Amino acid sequence: MSSKRCSEENVSPLIWDHSFSVKAPILDSQHRSLFQIINQLQAACSSGAEKELLLKIIKDLYNYSTTHFRDEETLLKQKHSPLLADQEMQHALFLDYVIDLEAKVKSGSSTVNDEILTFLKVWWEEHILKIDKQYAELF
Ligand SMILES: [Fe+2]
Repeated sequence: MSSKRCSEENVSPLIWDHSFSVKAPILDSQHRSLFQIINQLQAACSSGAEKELLLKIIKDLYNYSTTHFRDEETLLKQKHSPLLADQEMQHALFLDYVIDLEAKVKSGSSTVNDEILTFLKVWWEEHILKIDKQYAELF
């Protein structure tokens, strides 16, 4: 166990492979980008980056997630999918988490660490594999 608050020895980076495919190329490509943003946050934290850089990456995560969720929800609406309501709820919860994280890092009451990176990583892995994959058959 590394004593650093963020370490790739403790939390492995997110790597997109075809097991994550939801059969919609635009959404797959956005999922890849989201993995990269979370990996950037981990790399910044591991290298002891300043708070400003961590906040910038958290903002990127918020903005990119917002765009991605909107695109995903639009596609589900177009397909009249009954999965939409659950997706909207999950997406809103994730964005709330990121807003809360940003506020804590900004105020200094908390900072990015392995626990937070694990949450982000597991959230995306489980969301894609358990929730998003349910709509893969539409495409
Ligand atoms: Fe989703």
